[in-house]
Amino acid sequence: MRKGLLSTVAALSLAGSLTACGSDSGGESSGSGAKKPKIGVILPDSKSSARWETADRKYLGEAFKAAGVDYDIQNAQGDKQQFQTIADQMITSGVNVLVIVNLDSGTGKAVLDKAKSQGVATIDYDRLTLGGSAQYYVSFDNTAVGKLQGEGLSKCLTDMKAQKPIVATLNGSPTDNNATLFAQGYNGVLDPKYKAGEYVKGPDQSVPDWDNAQAGTIFEQMLTSQPKIGGVLAANDGLGNAVIAVLRKERRNGQVPVTGQDATVQGLQNILAGDQCMTVYKAVKKEADATARLAISLAKGEKGTTNATVEDPEGKREVPSVLETPVAIYKENVKDVVDDGFVTKEELCTGKYAALCTEAGIE
Ligand code: BGC
Repeated sequence: MRKGLLSTVAALSLAGSLTACGSDSGGESSGSGAKKPKIGVILPDSKSSARWETADRKYLGEAFKAAGVDYDIQNAQGDKQQFQTIADQMITSGVNVLVIVNLDSGTGKAVLDKAKSQGVATIDYDRLTLGGSAQYYVSFDNTAVGKLQGEGLSKCLTDMKAQKPIVATLNGSPTDNNATLFAQGYNGVLDPKYKAGEYVKGPDQSVPDWDNAQAGTIFEQMLTSQPKIGGVLAANDGLGNAVIAVLRKERRNGQVPVTGQDATVQGLQNILAGDQCMTVYKAVKKEADATARLAISLAKGEKGTTNATVEDPEGKREVPSVLETPVAIYKENVKDVVDDGFVTKEELCTGKYAALCTEAGIE
Protein backbone atom coordinates (compact mmCIF):
# COMPACT_ATOMS: atom_id res chain seq x y z
CA MET A 1 0.00 0.00 0.00
CA ARG A 2 2.77 2.37 0.98
CA LYS A 3 4.65 1.46 -2.14
CA GLY A 4 1.51 2.03 -4.09
CA LEU A 5 1.06 5.53 -2.65
CA LEU A 6 4.62 6.45 -3.40
CA SER A 7 4.35 5.38 -6.94
CA THR A 8 1.08 7.28 -7.27
CA VAL A 9 2.76 10.42 -5.92
CA ALA A 10 5.69 9.87 -8.25
CA ALA A 11 3.35 9.33 -11.17
CA LEU A 12 1.37 12.46 -10.27
CA SER A 13 4.41 14.64 -9.96
CA LEU A 14 5.80 13.24 -13.19
CA ALA A 15 2.49 13.94 -14.88
CA GLY A 16 2.49 17.37 -13.27
CA SER A 17 5.90 18.25 -14.60
CA LEU A 18 4.97 16.96 -18.04
CA THR A 19 1.83 19.08 -18.01
CA ALA A 20 3.76 22.11 -16.80
CA CYS A 21 6.33 21.59 -19.50
CA GLY A 22 3.65 21.13 -22.17
CA SER A 23 1.58 24.10 -21.08
CA ASP A 24 4.68 26.29 -20.88
CA SER A 25 5.31 26.13 -24.60
CA GLY A 26 1.58 26.18 -25.30
CA GLY A 27 1.29 29.30 -23.15
CA GLU A 28 4.13 30.87 -25.05
CA SER A 29 2.52 30.44 -28.43
CA SER A 30 -0.94 31.49 -27.26
CA GLY A 31 0.63 34.45 -25.49
CA SER A 32 2.18 35.71 -28.74
CA GLY A 33 -1.05 35.25 -30.70
CA ALA A 34 -1.57 32.73 -33.50
CA LYS A 35 1.14 30.38 -34.70
CA LYS A 36 3.74 31.98 -36.97
CA PRO A 37 2.42 31.87 -40.55
CA LYS A 38 4.40 29.97 -43.15
CA ILE A 39 4.45 31.03 -46.78
CA GLY A 40 5.56 28.91 -49.73
CA VAL A 41 6.66 30.44 -53.04
CA ILE A 42 7.27 28.59 -56.31
CA LEU A 43 9.32 30.47 -58.90
CA PRO A 44 9.12 29.28 -62.53
CA ASP A 45 12.71 28.87 -63.79
CA SER A 46 16.06 30.62 -63.84
CA LYS A 47 16.65 30.88 -67.58
CA SER A 48 13.73 32.77 -69.13
CA SER A 49 14.81 35.84 -67.21
CA ALA A 50 17.50 36.63 -64.66
CA ARG A 51 14.88 38.35 -62.52
CA TRP A 52 13.46 35.27 -60.77
CA GLU A 53 16.67 34.34 -58.98
CA THR A 54 18.36 37.72 -58.73
CA ALA A 55 15.39 39.94 -57.86
CA ASP A 56 12.24 38.01 -56.91
CA ARG A 57 13.92 35.50 -54.61
CA LYS A 58 15.86 38.26 -52.90
CA TYR A 59 13.04 40.77 -52.41
CA LEU A 60 10.44 38.16 -51.38
CA GLY A 61 12.87 36.71 -48.83
CA GLU A 62 13.61 40.17 -47.44
CA ALA A 63 9.91 41.06 -47.24
CA PHE A 64 9.00 37.83 -45.40
CA LYS A 65 11.96 38.21 -43.05
CA ALA A 66 10.98 41.79 -42.22
CA ALA A 67 7.43 40.61 -41.50
CA GLY A 68 8.76 37.88 -39.21
CA VAL A 69 7.04 34.97 -40.99
CA ASP A 70 8.45 31.58 -41.96
CA TYR A 71 8.92 31.00 -45.66
CA ASP A 72 10.19 28.58 -48.25
CA ILE A 73 11.07 29.81 -51.75
CA GLN A 74 11.77 27.17 -54.41
CA ASN A 75 12.33 27.21 -58.16
CA ALA A 76 10.70 24.63 -60.48
CA GLN A 77 13.45 25.16 -63.11
CA GLY A 78 10.94 25.07 -65.97
CA ASP A 79 9.74 21.57 -65.05
CA LYS A 80 5.95 21.27 -64.67
CA GLN A 81 6.19 17.91 -62.89
CA GLN A 82 8.68 19.40 -60.45
CA PHE A 83 6.36 22.38 -59.97
CA GLN A 84 3.60 20.06 -58.76
CA THR A 85 5.98 18.06 -56.56
CA ILE A 86 7.20 21.23 -54.85
CA ALA A 87 3.60 22.35 -54.30
CA ASP A 88 2.68 18.99 -52.74
CA GLN A 89 5.71 19.15 -50.44
CA MET A 90 4.86 22.67 -49.37
CA ILE A 91 1.23 21.78 -48.65
CA THR A 92 2.36 18.73 -46.62
CA SER A 93 4.86 20.84 -44.71
CA GLY A 94 1.96 23.01 -43.55
CA VAL A 95 2.24 26.28 -45.45
CA ASN A 96 -0.71 28.61 -44.82
CA VAL A 97 -0.27 30.47 -48.09
CA LEU A 98 1.07 29.28 -51.43
CA VAL A 99 2.38 31.87 -53.90
CA ILE A 100 2.98 30.67 -57.46
CA VAL A 101 4.39 31.91 -60.76
CA ASN A 102 2.77 29.37 -63.08
CA LEU A 103 4.57 27.64 -65.95
CA ASP A 104 1.25 27.49 -67.78
CA SER A 105 -2.35 27.98 -66.74
CA GLY A 106 -3.27 24.26 -66.82
CA THR A 107 -0.65 23.06 -64.34
CA GLY A 108 -0.98 26.27 -62.34
CA LYS A 109 -4.71 25.68 -61.94
CA ALA A 110 -4.18 22.10 -60.75
CA VAL A 111 -1.81 23.32 -58.03
CA LEU A 112 -4.09 26.18 -56.94
CA ASP A 113 -7.15 23.94 -56.78
CA LYS A 114 -5.31 21.34 -54.72
CA ALA A 115 -4.05 23.96 -52.28
CA LYS A 116 -7.57 25.36 -51.96
CA SER A 117 -9.02 21.91 -51.23
CA GLN A 118 -6.47 21.55 -48.39
CA GLY A 119 -7.39 24.93 -46.91
CA VAL A 120 -4.24 26.67 -48.13
CA ALA A 121 -4.70 30.25 -49.35
CA THR A 122 -3.19 31.12 -52.73
CA ILE A 123 -1.74 34.08 -54.62
CA ASP A 124 -0.88 34.33 -58.33
CA TYR A 125 2.44 36.13 -58.46
CA ASP A 126 3.31 38.06 -61.62
CA ARG A 127 1.41 35.70 -63.98
CA LEU A 128 -2.35 35.24 -63.78
CA THR A 129 -3.45 31.61 -63.93
CA LEU A 130 -6.34 31.57 -66.39
CA GLY A 131 -9.30 29.63 -65.02
CA GLY A 132 -7.44 29.42 -61.71
CA SER A 133 -8.64 29.92 -58.15
CA ALA A 134 -6.04 32.22 -56.55
CA GLN A 135 -7.53 34.64 -54.01
CA TYR A 136 -5.24 37.45 -55.15
CA TYR A 137 -3.09 38.45 -58.11
CA VAL A 138 0.00 40.64 -57.72
CA SER A 139 1.81 41.93 -60.79
CA PHE A 140 2.54 44.98 -62.91
CA ASP A 141 0.17 46.59 -65.35
CA ASN A 142 1.35 44.29 -68.12
CA THR A 143 -0.48 46.00 -70.97
CA ALA A 144 1.32 49.17 -69.87
CA VAL A 145 4.63 47.24 -70.04
CA GLY A 146 3.90 46.36 -73.68
CA LYS A 147 2.82 49.91 -74.47
CA LEU A 148 6.17 51.22 -73.17
CA GLN A 149 7.95 48.70 -75.40
CA GLY A 150 5.98 49.77 -78.49
CA GLU A 151 6.53 53.46 -77.74
CA GLY A 152 10.19 52.77 -76.97
CA LEU A 153 10.83 51.04 -80.28
CA SER A 154 9.06 53.80 -82.10
CA LYS A 155 11.12 56.49 -80.29
CA CYS A 156 14.37 54.72 -81.20
CA LEU A 157 13.31 54.31 -84.84
CA THR A 158 12.52 58.03 -84.98
CA ASP A 159 15.89 58.91 -83.38
CA MET A 160 17.59 56.83 -86.07
CA LYS A 161 15.50 58.50 -88.78
CA ALA A 162 14.52 55.04 -90.03
CA GLN A 163 12.55 55.14 -93.28
CA LYS A 164 9.62 52.70 -93.45
CA PRO A 165 11.46 50.17 -91.27
CA ILE A 166 10.50 46.51 -91.35
CA VAL A 167 9.68 45.57 -87.76
CA ALA A 168 10.10 42.00 -86.50
CA THR A 169 8.39 40.78 -83.32
CA LEU A 170 9.49 38.12 -80.84
CA ASN A 171 6.65 37.57 -78.37
CA GLY A 172 7.00 35.78 -75.05
CA SER A 173 5.75 32.27 -74.32
CA PRO A 174 2.28 31.53 -75.71
CA THR A 175 1.48 29.80 -72.39
CA ASP A 176 2.17 32.96 -70.36
CA ASN A 177 -0.84 35.27 -70.02
CA ASN A 178 1.60 38.15 -69.53
CA ALA A 179 2.98 37.59 -73.04
CA THR A 180 -0.57 38.09 -74.37
CA LEU A 181 -0.92 41.32 -72.39
CA PHE A 182 2.52 42.63 -73.45
CA ALA A 183 1.55 41.96 -77.09
CA GLN A 184 -1.76 43.81 -76.64
CA GLY A 185 0.25 46.76 -75.36
CA TYR A 186 2.89 46.96 -78.10
CA ASN A 187 0.60 45.97 -80.96
CA GLY A 188 -1.71 48.75 -79.83
CA VAL A 189 1.13 51.16 -80.60
CA LEU A 190 2.60 49.46 -83.69
CA ASP A 191 -0.52 48.32 -85.59
CA PRO A 192 -1.68 51.87 -86.41
CA LYS A 193 1.83 52.59 -87.75
CA TYR A 194 1.68 49.55 -90.02
CA LYS A 195 -1.76 50.66 -91.19
CA ALA A 196 -0.53 54.18 -91.86
CA GLY A 197 2.36 52.79 -93.91
CA GLU A 198 4.88 54.33 -91.50
CA TYR A 199 6.37 50.90 -90.65
CA VAL A 200 6.21 47.59 -92.50
CA LYS A 201 5.04 44.58 -90.50
CA GLY A 202 7.77 41.93 -90.59
CA PRO A 203 7.90 38.40 -89.16
CA ASP A 204 6.06 37.92 -85.86
CA GLN A 205 6.61 34.82 -83.72
CA SER A 206 6.13 33.57 -80.16
CA VAL A 207 9.09 32.05 -78.33
CA PRO A 208 8.08 28.84 -76.51
CA ASP A 209 8.78 29.08 -72.75
CA TRP A 210 10.64 32.35 -73.36
CA ASP A 211 13.59 30.11 -74.34
CA ASN A 212 16.48 32.45 -75.12
CA ALA A 213 18.39 29.90 -77.24
CA GLN A 214 15.31 29.23 -79.38
CA ALA A 215 14.86 32.97 -79.75
CA GLY A 216 18.30 33.16 -81.42
CA THR A 217 17.36 30.44 -83.92
CA ILE A 218 14.00 32.06 -84.59
CA PHE A 219 15.60 35.43 -85.24
CA GLU A 220 18.24 33.93 -87.54
CA GLN A 221 15.42 32.45 -89.61
CA MET A 222 13.59 35.78 -89.60
CA LEU A 223 16.70 37.53 -90.93
CA THR A 224 17.15 34.91 -93.63
CA SER A 225 13.58 35.34 -94.81
CA GLN A 226 13.66 39.12 -94.41
CA PRO A 227 17.27 40.48 -94.46
CA LYS A 228 16.14 44.10 -94.21
CA ILE A 229 14.64 43.95 -90.72
CA GLY A 230 15.12 47.45 -89.31
CA GLY A 231 13.71 47.16 -85.79
CA VAL A 232 12.89 44.36 -83.34
CA LEU A 233 10.24 44.25 -80.68
CA ALA A 234 11.64 41.63 -78.31
CA ALA A 235 9.41 40.98 -75.29
CA ASN A 236 12.16 40.77 -72.65
CA ASP A 237 15.90 41.32 -72.16
CA GLY A 238 16.75 37.64 -72.66
CA LEU A 239 15.02 37.51 -76.04
CA GLY A 240 16.53 40.90 -76.90
CA ASN A 241 20.02 39.65 -76.09
CA ALA A 242 19.53 36.61 -78.34
CA VAL A 243 18.56 38.98 -81.17
CA ILE A 244 21.54 41.25 -80.47
CA ALA A 245 23.92 38.27 -80.56
CA VAL A 246 22.68 37.41 -84.07
CA LEU A 247 22.94 41.07 -85.16
CA ARG A 248 26.53 41.17 -83.82
CA LYS A 249 27.51 38.26 -86.05
CA GLU A 250 26.10 40.24 -88.98
CA ARG A 251 27.90 43.37 -87.74
CA ARG A 252 24.55 45.12 -87.57
CA ASN A 253 24.28 45.55 -83.81
CA GLY A 254 23.54 49.15 -82.90
CA GLN A 255 21.94 49.76 -86.30
CA VAL A 256 18.71 47.92 -85.54
CA PRO A 257 16.88 49.05 -82.40
CA VAL A 258 15.87 46.16 -80.11
CA THR A 259 13.59 46.37 -77.06
CA GLY A 260 13.55 44.37 -73.84
CA GLN A 261 12.09 44.10 -70.35
CA ASP A 262 13.25 43.41 -66.76
CA ALA A 263 16.23 45.81 -66.52
CA THR A 264 18.62 42.87 -66.19
CA VAL A 265 22.35 43.57 -65.89
CA GLN A 266 22.82 42.20 -69.41
CA GLY A 267 19.97 44.29 -70.82
CA LEU A 268 21.29 47.46 -69.19
CA GLN A 269 24.81 46.74 -70.48
CA ASN A 270 23.39 46.25 -73.98
CA ILE A 271 21.69 49.63 -73.63
CA LEU A 272 24.91 51.33 -72.45
CA ALA A 273 26.74 49.80 -75.42
CA GLY A 274 24.08 51.15 -77.81
CA ASP A 275 23.00 47.66 -78.92
CA GLN A 276 19.62 47.72 -77.18
CA CYS A 277 17.20 50.60 -77.49
CA MET A 278 15.35 50.30 -74.19
CA THR A 279 14.16 48.02 -71.42
CA VAL A 280 11.25 48.16 -69.00
CA TYR A 281 12.10 48.42 -65.33
CA LYS A 282 9.65 46.71 -63.03
CA ALA A 283 10.44 47.47 -59.39
CA VAL A 284 10.18 43.88 -58.18
CA LYS A 285 10.68 45.07 -54.60
CA LYS A 286 7.21 46.67 -54.72
CA GLU A 287 5.71 43.51 -56.19
CA ALA A 288 7.36 41.39 -53.49
CA ASP A 289 6.37 43.73 -50.65
CA ALA A 290 2.73 43.76 -51.80
CA THR A 291 2.77 39.96 -52.00
CA ALA A 292 4.16 39.61 -48.48
CA ARG A 293 1.49 41.97 -47.13
CA LEU A 294 -1.34 40.06 -48.84
CA ALA A 295 0.06 36.68 -47.83
CA ILE A 296 0.17 37.74 -44.20
CA SER A 297 -3.42 39.01 -44.29
CA LEU A 298 -4.49 35.69 -45.80
CA ALA A 299 -2.60 33.72 -43.16
CA LYS A 300 -4.40 35.72 -40.46
CA GLY A 301 -7.75 35.24 -42.18
CA GLU A 302 -7.99 38.97 -42.84
CA LYS A 303 -8.89 40.79 -46.03
CA GLY A 304 -5.94 42.36 -47.83
CA THR A 305 -5.67 45.75 -49.52
CA THR A 306 -5.75 45.78 -53.33
CA ASN A 307 -5.66 48.56 -55.94
CA ALA A 308 -7.21 46.83 -58.96
CA THR A 309 -9.35 43.97 -60.19
CA VAL A 310 -8.22 41.90 -63.13
CA GLU A 311 -10.63 39.93 -65.22
CA ASP A 312 -9.79 36.28 -65.79
CA PRO A 313 -11.34 35.78 -69.24
CA GLU A 314 -11.27 32.00 -68.92
CA GLY A 315 -12.63 31.63 -65.39
CA LYS A 316 -14.92 34.61 -66.01
CA ARG A 317 -14.20 36.10 -62.60
CA GLU A 318 -12.79 39.35 -61.24
CA VAL A 319 -9.58 38.73 -59.33
CA PRO A 320 -8.70 41.26 -56.60
CA SER A 321 -5.23 42.47 -57.55
CA VAL A 322 -2.31 44.70 -56.77
CA LEU A 323 -0.76 46.12 -59.96
CA GLU A 324 2.45 48.13 -59.88
CA THR A 325 3.61 50.63 -62.51
CA PRO A 326 6.43 49.87 -64.99
CA VAL A 327 9.03 52.44 -66.14
CA ALA A 328 10.78 52.76 -69.54
CA ILE A 329 14.58 52.82 -69.39
CA TYR A 330 16.83 54.32 -72.08
CA LYS A 331 20.54 55.14 -71.95
CA GLU A 332 19.68 58.45 -70.28
CA ASN A 333 18.03 56.91 -67.23
CA VAL A 334 19.85 53.59 -66.73
CA LYS A 335 21.17 55.46 -63.71
CA ASP A 336 17.71 55.38 -62.07
CA VAL A 337 17.78 51.58 -61.91
CA VAL A 338 21.10 51.70 -60.05
CA ASP A 339 19.88 54.49 -57.75
CA ASP A 340 16.84 52.35 -56.92
CA GLY A 341 19.17 49.54 -55.79
CA PHE A 342 17.82 47.04 -58.35
CA VAL A 343 21.29 46.48 -59.82
CA THR A 344 24.57 47.56 -58.29
CA LYS A 345 27.21 49.70 -59.95
CA GLU A 346 29.71 46.88 -59.25
CA GLU A 347 27.83 44.30 -61.33
CA LEU A 348 26.82 46.72 -64.09
CA CYS A 349 29.99 48.71 -64.61
CA THR A 350 32.52 45.90 -65.08
CA GLY A 351 35.27 45.87 -67.73
CA LYS A 352 34.41 47.82 -70.85
CA TYR A 353 31.17 49.04 -69.25
CA ALA A 354 33.04 51.14 -66.67
CA ALA A 355 33.65 53.99 -69.13
CA LEU A 356 30.10 53.69 -70.51
CA CYS A 357 28.73 53.92 -66.96
CA THR A 358 30.72 57.11 -66.34
CA GLU A 359 29.34 58.55 -69.59
CA ALA A 360 25.82 57.66 -68.43
CA GLY A 361 26.38 59.47 -65.14
CA ILE A 362 26.51 56.32 -63.01
CA GLU A 363 28.88 57.21 -60.19
C1 BGC B 1 7.44 38.19 -66.63
C2 BGC B 1 8.65 38.85 -67.22
C3 BGC B 1 9.69 37.78 -67.58
C4 BGC B 1 9.07 36.64 -68.38
C5 BGC B 1 10.05 35.49 -68.59
C6 BGC B 1 6.92 37.13 -67.55
O1 BGC B 1 5.79 36.51 -67.06
O2 BGC B 1 6.46 39.17 -66.37
O3 BGC B 1 9.20 39.78 -66.31
O4 BGC B 1 10.72 38.36 -68.33
O5 BGC B 1 7.93 36.15 -67.74
O6 BGC B 1 10.42 34.93 -67.38
